[in-house]
Amino acid sequence: MLEQNSENKEIKGNTDMANNKFLNKKDLAKNKEKNVEKTSDERLYWRAGNMLYPLPVVMVSAVRGDEKPNIITVAWAGTVCSDPAYVSISVRKERFSYDIIKESKEFVINLVTKELVRATDFCGVRSGRDVDKFKEMHLTAIESKYVKAPSIKESPVNIECKVEKIIPLGTHDMFIAKVLGVTVDGKRMDEKGRFELNKSGLVTYSHGEYFELGKKLGKFGFSVSKKKPNRKKQKGSKK
Ligand SMILES: Cc1cc2nc3c(=O)[nH]c(=O)nc-3n(C[C@H](O)[C@H](O)[C@H](O)COP(=O)(O)O)c2cc1C
Repeated sequence: MLEQNSENKEIKGNTDMANNKFLNKKDLAKNKEKNVEKTSDERLYWRAGNMLYPLPVVMVSAVRGDEKPNIITVAWAGTVCSDPAYVSISVRKERFSYDIIKESKEFVINLVTKELVRATDFCGVRSGRDVDKFKEMHLTAIESKYVKAPSIKESPVNIECKVEKIIPLGTHDMFIAKVLGVTVDGKRMDEKGRFELNKSGLVTYSHGEYFELGKKLGKFGFSVSKKKPNRKKQKGSKK
């Protein structure tokens, strides 16, 4: 519970500062201890902190021996290498999941859709020390292909990972893990056999809040791709 409060304080501290975009003298004095400075062009310098948003938010499942499997919600997660595929998750030592992952050296990253957002939040505010999160959230633990840690059936993508390195950084230790295999929900394939991940209502986490992935703005490389000629117009121009 202690660590939960400290995480909440971290989030709240940042939000307070965000709401005070343009500070008057009184606010500035109040925020001195937060190291907020006002510059001439109305931009604020904040103390060093986490402001890299939006982020994926994922449910990480893990198991140790014959114990019940557990789920921890993680936002400090990322892709760190394409080939071979490596990912990272950063976890506080106080988490029940920390020792499970450290000892089993395995975990599964389960992507989150809007239908799973409540369960995701729950798994981020309750500990496996006190509750069976699979049971409480009616999630189905299914066998993974390469690791003992179960995958979450309701998730559209399960990424099976083997821990190779643990880097202590401060509040969090970073687990660098090799991706051994990926399972996707077969119901999300279109008629051409393409995986429709971006139509599955993926969830992102930004500055303390969850969002559903929104409007498509372009695709990889669109800024330099040549526009396809508009055939109708061309036909017309010949006349
Ligand atoms: C949106 C969100 C993101 C979180 N991200 C992390 C994270 O990246 N690393 C971490 O150690 N805890 C993170 N937490 C907190 C843990 O998920 C939380 O403490 C959880 O109850 C730990 O479960 P456990 O004790 O069963 O392992 C996050 C919580 C939420 C709600």
